[in-house]
Amino acid sequence: MSKISVLFVCLGNICRSPTAHGVFETMVSQAGLENKIVVDSCGTGDWHIGHSPDERSAKAALTRGYDLNHLRSRQITPNDFNQFDYILVMDEQNLTDVKALCPKSFSGQLELFLNYANNFSDYTEVPDPYYGGASGFDNVIDLVEDASQSLLTALQSKLEIQHL
Ligand code: 4NP
Repeated sequence: MSKISVLFVCLGNICRSPTAHGVFETMVSQAGLENKIVVDSCGTGDWHIGHSPDERSAKAALTRGYDLNHLRSRQITPNDFNQFDYILVMDEQNLTDVKALCPKSFSGQLELFLNYANNFSDYTEVPDPYYGGASGFDNVIDLVEDASQSLLTALQSKLEIQHL
């Protein structure tokens, strides 16, 4: 395993998982690990295939320095289970839906993204902000930044172990 690949999954792939994609990709790049860690995102649903991230997510992310404009929504495919080492989902419904598609042969990690959160122990899921106000989108970034930082630390340790 020379590279580690991470796939973030939510329902529509226009709010939470693109935010995680953009935030984590930025942190990976700032750590100089863009050749070692591959980042992608997708949705379990098909309503928004080909769409840009929700404007409210894009605006909230840009305010914190993360540009989501290059991202386009796609739906999860069977091949994702061959391609990705980590499939990190935003909520319990995503976990149920992805487990239902997951082949027995999948050898990676399928889990809630907030298993990696450090500072938000009262949250286990990233709440869906789609039908709510602006504060929900800021909350998504708070949770995603926290879990992304810890995930990066965990993957950096893994990459160092590979080189021992
Ligand atoms: P996401 O949010 O799963 O974080 O991308 C949603 C986006 C769209 C819808 C629901 C949630 N929708 O019902 O269209």
